[in-house]
Amino acid sequence: MTGIRLEPPARLNMNIGEAMFTQRAIRRLKPDPIGDEELKIIMDAASKAPNGGNEQPVRFFVIRAREKIRAFGALYHEAWWAKRLEQRGWSKPEDVPKEDKVYQSAMLLADEMRDAPVVILAFSLAKGRANSVFPPVQNLLLAARALGIGSTLTTLHPKVMERVYEMFSIPGEVEFHCCIPLGYPRGRFGPTSRLPAGQTTFYDEWDHPPPWA
Ligand SMILES: Cc1cc2nc3c(=O)[nH]c(=O)nc-3n(C[C@H](O)[C@H](O)[C@H](O)COP(=O)(O)O)c2cc1C
Repeated sequence: MTGIRLEPPARLNMNIGEAMFTQRAIRRLKPDPIGDEELKIIMDAASKAPNGGNEQPVRFFVIRAREKIRAFGALYHEAWWAKRLEQRGWSKPEDVPKEDKVYQSAMLLADEMRDAPVVILAFSLAKGRANSVFPPVQNLLLAARALGIGSTLTTLHPKVMERVYEMFSIPGEVEFHCCIPLGYPRGRFGPTSRLPAGQTTFYDEWDHPPPWA
């Protein structure tokens, strides 16, 4: 598969370390629109990612029309609760523990997805190509961060998939992978809290820590 060469966009000038170390799930989004120029930079960055055999099976579906985002938001809300019921037995807001910041925030996003300025759905042209979809998705998230635009990688639930495909006339053979709302943050970016790499990295033998651990 061929393609085009692009110069790196001048506006993507955030230090790569700052972008990586402060990119986090931003679920509270301002309603301010995201411009065409910013979206193009983000999608160009996604297009430059590694992928199997340079076959580039990823396809992004960008939803910007207000009424389409609202309609999708209703399905996202249904999917979020379907997943919570399945995984945790939660069926209403009072079931979500108050101290669980991630799920409290994710529940808010389930309500507010309908108001996101932009929603991007990531697909692959054929099934089983997730590993060529997530490198582009990660580039997308980092490019958005570098432009000051917040994002969260989210998923859906089988209960709504048929209706999502119908809503946007998505061909049946393409596979859905994730859904990413974009918007300027109501909160702040990073820092994030993760396990030290010394705990998630083994050296030469399984379970052998690296020298810096
Ligand atoms: C595979 C995957 C699925 C995710 N699904 C959801 C989701 O459905 N809803 C949501 O709000 N966040 C979702 N997230 C975001 C994670 O909750 C988030 O990356 C994680 O809690 C770390 O958050 P932080 O970067 O703010 O520290 C998902 C992330 C990944 C990688």
